[in-house]
Amino acid sequence: MRVLSGIQPSGRLHIGNYFGAMRQHLQLQAENDGFYFIADYHALTSGPKPEDLRQNKLAVAMDYLALGLDTNKTVFWCQSDLPQVTELCWILSCVTPMGLLQRCVSYKEKIEQGISPNHGLFAYPVLQAADILIFDSNLVPVGADQKQHIEVTRDIAGYFNNTYGETFVIPKEHILESVAVVPGLDGRKMSKSYNNTIEIFEPEQSVKKKVMSIVTDSTPVEAPKNPDKCNVFALLKLVSSKEELAEWEKKYRQGGMGYGQAKKRLAELLIEYFKPYRKKRAELEQNADYVRKVLQEGAQKAKAAAQKTLERARKAVGID
Ligand code: ADP
Ligand code: TRP
Repeated sequence: MRVLSGIQPSGRLHIGNYFGAMRQHLQLQAENDGFYFIADYHALTSGPKPEDLRQNKLAVAMDYLALGLDTNKTVFWCQSDLPQVTELCWILSCVTPMGLLQRCVSYKEKIEQGISPNHGLFAYPVLQAADILIFDSNLVPVGADQKQHIEVTRDIAGYFNNTYGETFVIPKEHILESVAVVPGLDGRKMSKSYNNTIEIFEPEQSVKKKVMSIVTDSTPVEAPKNPDKCNVFALLKLVSSKEELAEWEKKYRQGGMGYGQAKKRLAELLIEYFKPYRKKRAELEQNADYVRKVLQEGAQKAKAAAQKTLERARKAVGID
């Protein structure tokens, strides 16, 4: 099965990205034909500083490679190295109804936040559809917030196939409901744009400090607490064993436990969880040229696959 996903280099990757998306990407590569890329043209829609974009792109690549992306099995590249994708994006734009894009929740949310939208932000889902359709992808592993974008991709592929004949494979999303949304330090969705993240590879001291700052309610130490409403417990779920989690649940419900105790253990578990990958990450940090080479080689492989689909689409619409 062809599995494809992309991640924006819009900041340093955090544990929400990891448990919501990257972990599935890495697991799925064993049994599938994996295609993963860094979506830098998508990141451009929010107007990053050029130097930040450059740095974040490399950091995302280093994070993936340190966490176990295997370039012998999986194709890994940077979106902007394939002009085929932006070309297909235009062709798809011409079968995409405005209304479909106007209904996109992530676009509407950005407008509600007061962002003055550029055309790239509005057209964002069409570029995402091009990313997916150009590789004949079957499965797209993402976090829950991307569900609608995959539905839009299916709609666009459907309009195109109906208009011009069978051209594109219709993809499906792959979402782990159990970790659908990882909460951030303030209880909102953990997100690079909310400044509420715990980065995968940030210094251990800083992980501890951030975990201690997670927002909790004001239930007194002695009183019973509801684990299902607690941000600390939601994160404990991701990193503790089943047995340990059951014990924490008991402690919450019994009362007599302060949130500080749970936070201390959470920090330890998070640090332990990512510890095996830190050495590799530090080595890659010193080897930026190697990382750039890996991405370039990946782009060469991806290009061959993309070119074939692009030609199919060009022929279908009469531009060949
Ligand atoms: P961010 O909101 O930090 O900018 P992205 O939009 O770049 O993250 O998301 C990259 C991937 O990580 C997507 O598949 C997204 O669904 C997933 N993801 C991001 N934040 C979370 C979260 N808090 N919980 C679960 N998945 C997430
Ligand atoms: N929009 C996705 C996100 O913010 C990133 C992305 C771009 C993507 N192109 C994609 C995800 C194609 C899956 C498939 O997370």
